[in-house]
Amino acid sequence: MSGRTVPHPPAHPPESLFESCSWFYSLCREYLFRDHTPEISRALFPPDGPAPGMRILELGCGPGFYACRLSEEYPQIHTTGVDLSRRLLARAESRAARRSLQNCTFAHGDAHSLPDASNSIDAVVVSRLFLIVAKREAVLSEIFRILRPGGRCFVAEPTSGFRTQIPLGCMWLLSKLSSSPAGKYREPRQADVMTAPDFSAFIHSQPWGSVELQYDGWYQYAVCEKDPDTVAERRTQIVACEALL
Ligand SMILES: C[S@@+](CC[C@H](N)C(=O)[O-])C[C@H]1O[C@@H](n2cnc3c(N)ncnc32)[C@H](O)[C@@H]1O
Repeated sequence: MSGRTVPHPPAHPPESLFESCSWFYSLCREYLFRDHTPEISRALFPPDGPAPGMRILELGCGPGFYACRLSEEYPQIHTTGVDLSRRLLARAESRAARRSLQNCTFAHGDAHSLPDASNSIDAVVVSRLFLIVAKREAVLSEIFRILRPGGRCFVAEPTSGFRTQIPLGCMWLLSKLSSSPAGKYREPRQADVMTAPDFSAFIHSQPWGSVELQYDGWYQYAVCEKDPDTVAERRTQIVACEALL
């Protein structure tokens, strides 16, 4: 993956709440939040498992929970976790090292603008990211751009503002109690949880070939597939137009 940068020690003072409270978020991820690995596997892989060499990106990976889970379960794939928080990336790298994972890497990056080439990634996992990013449509558009035709994206977003507010509120409180400059973080004080109609409209803002939406009590999910024929069709149209000229 060209253009990726290696995590460095964090800049001080941290600009991100996740950078400031990385240990607390990692605890929540490990012990509080639901593990969607089975749903991700069903959504992204055929029943006999992923093809060897499949490249998967986890955007806003935090402590690398899914990148590591998938790499551990499917040694034939390669996962890359991308996040803005260098402290969370360091935790993700330690997690992968503790499990001796050779097929899992992490990189600092902004989901609004990814270095990956267009049509280059087989699958993208995005869990609990859209409720806190500044421009969620721009992030979804980046995902669409980098996915190869036929590539899939799995999105999981919480549905309950109240439940989401508990860890976020704790992080704000902890940052106030620590020496960090509370109030100067890029994350909102309240998570921007989407309603079901907003989630559907948001997901459909990109021209997916197919979209499946699902809801349970606490999460809403989207499995989006980029039309396998998109590129071929456009090429055919261009050739047809050129023939007319
Ligand atoms: C709520 S956490 C979700 C972490 C993980 N995906 C999970 O399921 O627990 C959001 C993560 O997104 C990261 N993040 C926020 N804005 C980002 C951006 N623009 N690009 C990449 N990562 C971002 C944060 O640092 C944080 O680790």
